[in-house]
Order: sequence, then structure tokens, then C-alpha cells
Amino acid sequence: MSARRGLDVSVLRIYLFLGFETGFGRGQNMGTKDKPDISALTPAQAAAELESLARQLSVANEAYHTLDAPQIDDATYDALKSRNALLEKMFPDLKRPDSPSEQVGAPVNETFGKVTHAVRMMSLANAFEDDDISEFDERVRKYLGLPSDAALSFTAEPKIDGLSLTLRYEDGQLTQAATRGDGEVGEDVTANAKTITDVPSYLAGMDGIVEVRGEVYMAHSDFAALNARQTSENRKPFANPRNAAAGSLRQLDPAITQSRPLRFFAYSWGELTTPLADTQFGAIVRLSELGFSTNPLTKRCSSPAELIAHYRSIEQQRATLGYDIDGVVYKLDDLPLQTRMGFRSTTPRWAIAHKFPAEKAWTRLESIEIQVGRTGALSPVARLTPVTVGGVVVSNATLHNEDYIAGKDSKGSEIRSGKDIREGDWVQIYRAGDVIPKVADVDVAKRDESALPFEFPTHCPDCGSDALREPGDAVRRCSGGMICPAQAMERLKHFVGRGAFDIEGLGARQIEQFYVDDHLPIHEPSQIFTLGRRDAGNLTKLANREGYGAKSAENLFTGIEARRHIPMRRLLFGLGIRHVGEAAARLIARHYGNWSAFVAAMDLAALEPAFQETATSKEVLTKSPAFAELLAIDGVGAVMATSLVAAFAQGNERTLIDRLCSELTIEDEAAVDESQSPVAGKTVVFTGTLEKLTRAEAKARAEALGAKVSGSVSAKTNILVAGPGAGSKAKKAAELGIETLDEDGWLELIGG
Ligand code: IVH
Repeated sequence: MSARRGLDVSVLRIYLFLGFETGFGRGQNMGTKDKPDISALTPAQAAAELESLARQLSVANEAYHTLDAPQIDDATYDALKSRNALLEKMFPDLKRPDSPSEQVGAPVNETFGKVTHAVRMMSLANAFEDDDISEFDERVRKYLGLPSDAALSFTAEPKIDGLSLTLRYEDGQLTQAATRGDGEVGEDVTANAKTITDVPSYLAGMDGIVEVRGEVYMAHSDFAALNARQTSENRKPFANPRNAAAGSLRQLDPAITQSRPLRFFAYSWGELTTPLADTQFGAIVRLSELGFSTNPLTKRCSSPAELIAHYRSIEQQRATLGYDIDGVVYKLDDLPLQTRMGFRSTTPRWAIAHKFPAEKAWTRLESIEIQVGRTGALSPVARLTPVTVGGVVVSNATLHNEDYIAGKDSKGSEIRSGKDIREGDWVQIYRAGDVIPKVADVDVAKRDESALPFEFPTHCPDCGSDALREPGDAVRRCSGGMICPAQAMERLKHFVGRGAFDIEGLGARQIEQFYVDDHLPIHEPSQIFTLGRRDAGNLTKLANREGYGAKSAENLFTGIEARRHIPMRRLLFGLGIRHVGEAAARLIARHYGNWSAFVAAMDLAALEPAFQETATSKEVLTKSPAFAELLAIDGVGAVMATSLVAAFAQGNERTLIDRLCSELTIEDEAAVDESQSPVAGKTVVFTGTLEKLTRAEAKARAEALGAKVSGSVSAKTNILVAGPGAGSKAKKAAELGIETLDEDGWLELIGG
């Protein structure tokens, strides 16, 4: 589960109270200095210590390798490892399956370099039903303005269940290989990729840049042999071929990667000096000619029916392919049309992954736990007897909300034929879209007679505040705000996260640590920026504490100082206000330009009686000028606007925001670089019929050039693009003296 929420706080507290070693610090001994002599230990004590060591070393490894934020110094790390090895030697029967000594690893002073992808590595939108495919075809046609009977081809190919890799060739030479990472920045795995036989190290006759992308995977037979080897060498076997492939590619020692049988299918590309072909199918053929392995089941199809027929055929062959696939990917064949369609924030508009139905498995629901999220949402989570679903061990599943548990959907209609879910029930689990496991069904016949319906709490399990449900909201929320430790902690984690303050050396783990720290507590964002001053005034310095050293403490303070200057949009996103995502924060920041103008506008909007009386009716709200201005920002709806204004109007919340801002220098939203595009920063309205572009395409292209597209003409409009049939908007624009262009004039302005 990615949602490790409120309960963690209490678990953490119990650990601290009992004096367990959590690896989270506060006077806990991360080293081994005070440990008893091993010969004096009982087996139970040894087992407990081995468990604690496994946990500490795993935390330390993750902090070092994954989070890039080491928590302990090398000497402490080595001491923990030696103690673990010694204990294992003295108590061989107690050696754990996840023994730290079995982690093939990397010397701790090495790590992968980072690679910023020249062209972002995208993900794919998912489809599950046949109807979704016809809808995809319709969407593509609509976007491109093609009639339903116009010829339109797509390719269909297996979706390989591995991990994506990008290979950069310069003048034919393989110069760099990188994992996807977050899509923008991946890890440099060049030396490892060079050991994969399917990866050519030279491309004949290819001058300039050629970036080839595809999937690294492990064949079933190779996986079985590798796991047999692991077991015979007393090493932990891999859970599935995907994990084995990922673990093998991300080895710091390329010799280990080389010893693992990895394969690669090429299916896509990034930066190219010269296009590979003018169709997707042609590009795959070209990649194959260049020496890449391409999937033999790739087919060009000319209708949704043909795509689905190929999907069925691949589904039938799935078990005998010899490698894992989890669906079929459809891509628009014509590459110039792909370019016209472009991308949403993380997925192309011209492709879709048609996933195979999720695998299901029955298990027992041991308990229902309530987690409290950043916005106070009480999320019920099923704790399950672990069960393997589609090759992955599942021990938690989401139960969404109280209606879902009771067997109702958001409109009150029955789900699961109205069967509710109770603790102790037998439940069928599936992994939808291979993400968070869900409950598909309940076996009421197996229910214990004494099982009672689940009573959803009406108070926050973490802080005891009332947990309220607003009309129309399926979710019950804790009303405690920042006084609720679970909410406060989640909000702090969001605050320091990517896209927000993104503070070097201060991640989720450190937030958990500082939240419960007596000497240097962080309970609200402003306290991050007083950390250095408070540490200076403390007798026990952070630099002298377990898990920190002079260097790491200094790095942390430097990381914090680096973010004291913060762009307005990051601050706004970092506040974690409900419904205000990263894109919206940017739009709002761009609109108001600077923080004080924005806050003044929020204050005005809150003062309007219209806002206080009605929170949901857009019609009434628009009578309030400050509110109307907020609402007029394209991308800001009534729900978001209400949430934003309410956050600034709420006393406690506002105090926290103001306290934080007094620590910061908030950068005005940088003016868009107009030299880059003639319409950057301009507000454009499209009206009437467009003949060369569809509306969706016109909007997407304008936005890609940095323009803001609005639905209505106001004094803020810079350009009106009016096609035939333009009515009141054209009239209003003329009255306001706004530049009006026809479609050709617009295309000329933006360069065709
Ligand atoms: S195309 C812009 N084709 O699936 C094009 N992806 O869920 C993006 N994947 O990140 C990818 N097989 O790692 C594409 N035949 C295939 C694929 C494929 C597997 C993976 C890829 C991607 C993920 C998205």
C-alpha cells in the first residue's frame, strides 16, 4: 500500500514507548555499541535482534539507495551488518528469509547517476473493456476531426510486463542507458544495459541522435533457472520475473547484471535526429532492421474490431509466450497524426493499453483499519491474510469508504448484490490496473454467525476529533485539521515532496522522525524553516545524534535554506489544499502573479456573503467579483475555488500559512518567456467553427505554446480566434477592443 497513514504515527509511538529500535531515531541506538554479548543471548532474544537489524538495514538501504538521503554513517552501517552476520553465524537456524546478508548489494558508497531524459518517458492510459476501445477510436477521430468512416490504422502489440529502458545512441554508438524513473529523470544504467544481448552496442549508418525505448524483461525459463540458483545458494528467490528483471538491471555491479539473463523488446523512441519512418509499424520494422528485438505479435489493424480480435488472439497465446505480458497496447499508426495528437501530462493521447482482466484470489479479511490522509479523509483498509494475486503477495486492500463497506455505491445503489463486508469475512481480491488491490466479492456463506456489521468511526482514530461527512461526499473526514497528527504528518510529507518544496535530505522518513522528536519537533511547515535556528539553540546538536553526522546535518540545513526562496506555485501546491493540484497551483499563481495579490484576493472572496452562504452553487458564487475572478481561471472550478478560499479564511489554517510565509521569500510567478512563443502568457478564446483544427486540438496546441485558453471573453482576453458562426463572444471582443483572428490568422501566428 502506498497509503501508510495515520496509524503509522501510533505504531511509531508504541515502538518509542516500548523502547524498540525503529530506525527512526530520537535517542534510539542505531549502532551496536551497547549490545549484549552474543553468547549470552537466548534464541528468542537473538531472533528479536535479527528482526530489528533486518528492519534497520532495510531502512538504511532504502534511505541511501532509493531516497538518496542516508540516515546513518558508513561505520554504523558496517557495524550493524557485522553484528547481523555474527548473530547468523551463532544462530544459523534463525537466519531470516529477508536476511540483510543476502542482499546482493552494492558498496554503500556508490549509487546510480541521474539522467534527465531529453524527451519525457511516458506512461499509458489503461482500458479494461471492449467498449473502451471503440471510445478510444472515437476520441482519436474527434480530436483529429476525422469522420467515423475515414480510414484509420492502429498497431496492436503485447504489453510486456517488465521495466522500461531508454537507450541513447550518438553517431551509432550506445552512449547512455537509463531507467524511466519518474519519467523526467531516470537512473543511469549504461554499464548494465551493455550486458544485455538484445541491446546492440552499435547502430550501423545512424548518424546523430537515436534514442530507442523498450522493455527489459526476463523470460519464464530464465526466471525459473535464476530462482533455482538463488535457492541453492541460500538466497531469497524473486517473487516474479518483473521483480527479477528490475532487481537485475538495478545492480551496481554490472557483472551481476551480466550473470542475469535479461532481454529487451524495442517498441518506442525518444529524441531522434531523423525520423525512423512515417508509421508506427514502419518504425518497428526499422528498429528490427537495426538489430533490435521487436515483438513478433505486433500487428497493424484498421478497426476497433480488428484490434479486439488481435487482443483475444494474444490473450489465448499468453500462457505459452514464455514471458509475462499484462495486456495489449494500441497505437495510432500514422506518426504525423501522433504528433498532432500529442500528450496529456503523463500519457500520449494516441495510445492506450488494453489490460487483461485482473487475476483474483480468495483470502480472509483479518481486520479493517482506518487510515487518515492529508485532507483528513478516513480511508478504510482491509488487512488480509497474505495471498498471491497475479504473482504479487497482497496483504492490504482498499475498502474506499463506509458506503462501499456497507455494499452501496455513491448513489446508494447496491454493489456486490448489497453484501456488506465484515471483519473475519472471506473476500475475493483482485488487482485493478495492477495498482491498489480491491475486494471483488464476499463469501457470505462462510461468514461467522457472530460477525457484526462494521461500524465506521464517527471520530478520527488518530486525534479523536469529529469525523464528518458532507452532503454529497462519500468520504468521512476528520475535522481536526493540523491538530490531527495523522493529517499534519501527511501534509508535511506532501509539503516536502516533489512538485512542492522538494527539500533535499528531508523526505517522508525524516518527517516521521522529526514529528515525534522532543528536541527538534516539526509539527507544521514553518518549523522546517526554524529548524536550523532551533538546533543552534539546543545543547544536543542534530550533528551529534544517531543517524546524523556533521555532514548530513549540514546538508539538511543547506537543503532547507535552498528552499527558503520558493516560487509561488510551489508554495501554493505545497500547502496541500484539497482539490488544488500542481497544474492548478501553476495556473492560479500565473493568474495573480504574486503572493500578496493572491492572498488579498482570497480575503476578498471570503468576505463576500455569497461565498459564505453557498459553497457549491456556481451561479450564485459568480455574483461575487473576487470569487468570480478565481472561478474564471481556466482549470479552476467551483469546488476547487471554494476549497481554496475556505483554506485561507479558516483561522487556524491561516495562522499556519502566515507563519510559514513569514519564513519565506516567495518568488513572483516568472513571466512567461515570450521569445519562446508568440502566444506565451496570452489568454486565448476560441469561438465559432474551426475548420482546420478540432477544438480539442486547438486548445492543446495553444496550451503547449504557453497560452491560457479560456471559455469566455473578458477584459483579460488577449486574442479571440473566431471561426464562422461566431456570435456574442465576437461581439463582446469587438466592444472590448480585443484582437480577433480567424483560424488562418491564428495558424499563421503560431507557425502553422
Ligand atoms: S509504449 C509513449 N508499448 O508499459 C509510449 N509501452 O503502462 C509509451 N510497456 O511505461 C510506452 N509494453 O514500460 C509501450 N508495447 C509497449 C509496452 C509498453 C510494455 C510499458 C512501458 C510503459 C508502461 C505503461
